[in-house]
Amino acid sequence: MTGTAPVLRADDLVVEYRGRPPLRAVDGVSLAIGPGEVVALVGESGCGKSSLARAVIGIEKRAGGTVLLGEASVPVLGLRRRTPQMTAMQMVFQDPDSSLNPRRRVGEQITDGVRAALARGLAGSDPADWLDRVGLDPETVNRYAYEFSGGQKQRIAIARALAARPRLLVADEPISALDASTQTSVAALMRSLSVEAGAGMLFISHDLSVVRRIADRTLVMYRGRIVESGHTETIWADPIHPYTRALLAAIPIPDGAGNLPVAPLEEDRATWTIELPDALERTAA
Ligand SMILES: Nc1ncnc2c1ncn2[C@@H]1O[C@H](COP(=O)(O)OP(=O)(O)O)[C@@H](O)[C@H]1O
Ligand SMILES: [Mg+2]
Repeated sequence: MTGTAPVLRADDLVVEYRGRPPLRAVDGVSLAIGPGEVVALVGESGCGKSSLARAVIGIEKRAGGTVLLGEASVPVLGLRRRTPQMTAMQMVFQDPDSSLNPRRRVGEQITDGVRAALARGLAGSDPADWLDRVGLDPETVNRYAYEFSGGQKQRIAIARALAARPRLLVADEPISALDASTQTSVAALMRSLSVEAGAGMLFISHDLSVVRRIADRTLVMYRGRIVESGHTETIWADPIHPYTRALLAAIPIPDGAGNLPVAPLEEDRATWTIELPDALERTAA
């Protein structure tokens, strides 16, 4: 992100779940995403990625921290009570059936997105054109969502989200439920369309090969914290946090107690644990 004002800015976000002791799923996370920038959030299952995404969107109670979408602060309201202004933030979830209604025509559902853009005073667009843009036959605009495959439904969900002309797209594991053969193309499509629209994107995935291809910057999350962040290429070329190294080496086996078994770089693969250093911030320029 260079010079331009971020579309999203989150500061010191905290999410806690009840329990004894309470679980701090997100433990003081800050991030910023610029227009047209794709930022990936990676880290293994349970590290807090979805909790962070929900806190950003405003559908999860925040125990601390602030979120700004452009200049506007993002309230915690729940999906159904979102204000028209907040439709400038759109979501794509893992399961397209959670955002699409199987019994409605796809054109109508994309029109919901178009209406959100109109309500914010932006120009509308043609649902059939959106189908074309996401690689589907525009002639299918009057078909019902249930008639499409999982990958096609995810493309429709992407079309609907982008038809709202969002400033930010938050995508939580949007390709995880898709056939392996379509994962890369859907991710690449999301990148090209969001960049073209000048929208920022928070892309959550555990598929590191896809992240490497589409993300400008990567945030590495471990036990509720961002432990390393920076330009994707820099992180892959030279991961400096032990957890990032372990993740990239595909040995994600944290012991749950703050220590991390890390495979030594040499041939000795016996597990040993190390103390985790503080977060390493290396977001340059
Ligand atoms: N609604 C909830 N209530 C209690 N604990 C939760 C809830 N949602 C998530 N958690 C816990 O918070 C931690 C982070 O979960 P989550 O944000 O879903 O991680 P990720 O998306 O990285 O897999 C996990 O330990 C999970 O079990
Ligand atoms: Mg998750």
